[in-house]
Amino acid sequence: MQHLTSINNFTKEQLWELIKLTGEIKADPAKYNNHLSGKILATLFFEPSTRTRLSFESAALRLGMKVLGFADASTSSTKKGETLEDTIKIINGFADAIAMRHFETNAAARAAKVSRIPVINGGDGINEHPTQALLDIFTINEHRQLHAEKLTIAFVGDLKYGRTVHSLSQGLAHFDPKYYFISPSVLKLPDEIKQKLNDKNIEFDELETWDEIAGQVDVLYMTRVQKERFEDESKYELLKESYLLNPDTASKFNDQCLFMHPLPRVGEIDPALDDDLRAIYFDEAHNGVWMRMAILLRIMNHES
Ligand code: NCD
Repeated sequence: MQHLTSINNFTKEQLWELIKLTGEIKADPAKYNNHLSGKILATLFFEPSTRTRLSFESAALRLGMKVLGFADASTSSTKKGETLEDTIKIINGFADAIAMRHFETNAAARAAKVSRIPVINGGDGINEHPTQALLDIFTINEHRQLHAEKLTIAFVGDLKYGRTVHSLSQGLAHFDPKYYFISPSVLKLPDEIKQKLNDKNIEFDELETWDEIAGQVDVLYMTRVQKERFEDESKYELLKESYLLNPDTASKFNDQCLFMHPLPRVGEIDPALDDDLRAIYFDEAHNGVWMRMAILLRIMNHES
């Protein structure tokens, strides 16, 4: 693995290998304290982030790396008009790996093209968010047997602009799932991704409500309507409350169903649900540190 720009960079075997390493790290993180000491991670975040950037930084620090970067591109030379390619070429002289987030589709692939050091995609516009998908797959596998079960997974919310769904639906496709894509008609999953799922013979249905299928769902993957992708804010206002998971609606789902969300939530999950045993979204976010440690170890070619 030279760069990590898309979930499709991984074969099923490589996904398993990463899940296994993540489990080993989670069981004994201290063992990995100095595995990457002397190395520097640059975190270049051209778009807002809490979990992704800070869990990359936490992962790097736990591996003994040092971290530099920016969380607000308006303080960088991007503000003066520097191209992404030039910024990446410069950072190549300052760090040993890059974790980045950018507002443009395919920005990570563009960066990788001009970079000798590994580039990890922490979200590129509406395209992909592969490291979130990896930590989501790890989290599902902690609770269910991905290799042995045909899981029914419902993706709910903004499937058009939600990059986490774009990556996760493709990553989980290795495990023979059944999908329900539940969204308002204007926020449906892009055709290009549906085509890829069809090519892999993945069974899926598109719906506008979960009423008919709630009882059959093993994983309910909620998402936020991506306000920043709307040109017309009034359209966002109409769509933002399309789905609400609260103690009442949650009662439609079975006792084993996993409630997941990449976070941040902005109203789609009532905090009253946080103590429900099915609500695993905070554990999911915390797994981001262990998964990102595994990613950094692999991408820096460290044999452990
Ligand atoms: C997601 C993202 O940035 O795409 N956040 C995250 O990294 N956990 C989801 C979102 O912002 O809605």
